[in-house]
Amino acid sequence: MIKIRYIVLVFLFLACAKKLPPEKQAYYDKGKSLYIKHCITCHNPNPSRPGASGPPLKNASTELVYKKVLFGTYPDGYKPKMPGRLMKVFKGELNKSDTDAISIYLQNL
Ligand code: HEC
Repeated sequence: MIKIRYIVLVFLFLACAKKLPPEKQAYYDKGKSLYIKHCITCHNPNPSRPGASGPPLKNASTELVYKKVLFGTYPDGYKPKMPGRLMKVFKGELNKSDTDAISIYLQNL
């Protein structure tokens, strides 16, 4: 009886632990290291919180990260969390696959 309870607990634990499919996990890891390398001078190392000068980025959409990071613009109709154009543009430094990876990280925190 105890053994069955134990197995059920382990099963529940595994079912609850957040696990991404391997390909997404690779993107997540890449996105996380790019975020730490390029973004945390202004955004918080914990993307749920406001940073030194930038707003929280948790759950930022793929399109938002792409446009803001590479072009300094926003998706049509998007209302920015903070006004202004202080953020640098990373065109030439990062590409679309990089911004996709960063958004997968931000969406799966
Ligand atoms: C030089 C400081 C700085 C750096 C570095 C920086 N940001 Fe920002 N970011 C800002 C500021 C300030 C804003 C608010 C709008 C503005 O002033 O451009 C912002 C806004 C944003 C927004 C829009 C959020 C919203 O919902 O309105 C996104 C997305 C974003 N940053 C992503 C990133 C990512 C990803 C990186 C790293 C690749 C990064 N930023 C690096 C300062 C920075």
